[in-house]
Amino acid sequence: MIRGDDRGEEYGDAYPVEVQWGRPLRMTAADLRPRIVLLPGDGIGPEIVAAARRVLEAVGEFEITEQVVGGASIDVHGTALADEVLEACRRSDAVLLGAVGGPKWDTTDPQAPRPEQGLLRLRKGLGLYANLRPVRPSPALVDASPLRDERLAGTDLLVVRELTGGIYFGDSGRDGDRAHDTCEYSVAEIERIATVAFDAARRRAAGKSRTPRVTSVDKANVLETSRLWRETVERLAGDYPEVELEHMLVDNAAMQLVSSPARFDVILTENMFGDILSDESAMLTGSLGMLPSASLGSDRPGLFEPVHGSAPDIAGRGVANPLATVLSVAMMLGHGLDRPDEAAVIEAAVDSVLQRGLRTFDLAGAGEEPVGTDEITEAVLATL
Ligand code: IPM
Ligand code: MG
Repeated sequence: MIRGDDRGEEYGDAYPVEVQWGRPLRMTAADLRPRIVLLPGDGIGPEIVAAARRVLEAVGEFEITEQVVGGASIDVHGTALADEVLEACRRSDAVLLGAVGGPKWDTTDPQAPRPEQGLLRLRKGLGLYANLRPVRPSPALVDASPLRDERLAGTDLLVVRELTGGIYFGDSGRDGDRAHDTCEYSVAEIERIATVAFDAARRRAAGKSRTPRVTSVDKANVLETSRLWRETVERLAGDYPEVELEHMLVDNAAMQLVSSPARFDVILTENMFGDILSDESAMLTGSLGMLPSASLGSDRPGLFEPVHGSAPDIAGRGVANPLATVLSVAMMLGHGLDRPDEAAVIEAAVDSVLQRGLRTFDLAGAGEEPVGTDEITEAVLATL
């Protein structure tokens, strides 16, 4: 499905100009190329996004533009996400982001702009309430995991994190020597993210003989938002009789993720718990450098980005692991652009490169000679 078509139909002849949404009315094949906005961001962001761009361009034709976000944007515009950049993202079919942040912009001054605000504004501005973070340790990497093989065996989980509500977006402020951040959720917000989780559980189990399971993670023994969360998820579960629902307190979930990760299927949780648990889950794969993510709303564009941060300590040295970003391109093709075949080709290429023993320094074990960003990217390109 190409979105240009939908938009054409939606406005039809009633839209009296030659150009709709920046696309000419009479479309040629070149006009129908999906529009991708790249937001490299800070630290290793530019290196890994450049690598991912090469992979993207190797699998298809896209209209690609690059924009600044995060610290890079603060340097140019004085704000972490300029209005025109948000607008360009809105008009695109998908957005690929590297990472934001770095010591240069670290501050506790509430008046000063922070790189992370760019990402939060992008999520809110594009209505991206559902963050999907799949964790499936590559068989070639079991030795890189901090867990023993037998604990890790069979781990294949998906974190579904609510992304535009909760304490990240509630009222916050300072008053003299006090500060506050407010956590709020509405039934509607909980229902729509829970629907994503139940649907994902159903899809993941389709054609398999196992029972789909959703583990809803909260802190219902303490927090009122968590009690509303639990009640709402419980009610929605009635629409999914084939999905097994369990509730788990977040501290227990953090513990079980390292003691028995294979017991999880879909983890459904609110914004901040999801932030913390997804980093923890990511480390099960041996490196934060391997995990992709998709942030989706009820319409295009989605935002695709690696789970890891901007790693300023290794920025510019050509050693960053680009695979999480390359795998985010695969998620972009699969989830964002309805091109699952190209997504599968990229995933297979990454697996194959790891299988052959190539390791960036974050993955290399004792006695393994690490390769750089370019080398591993070339290897992926050669395998496609
Ligand atoms: C993430 C990051 C962000 C978050 C930061 C950079 C605002 O940690 O995507 O997990 O907390 O959501
Ligand atoms: Mg995080």
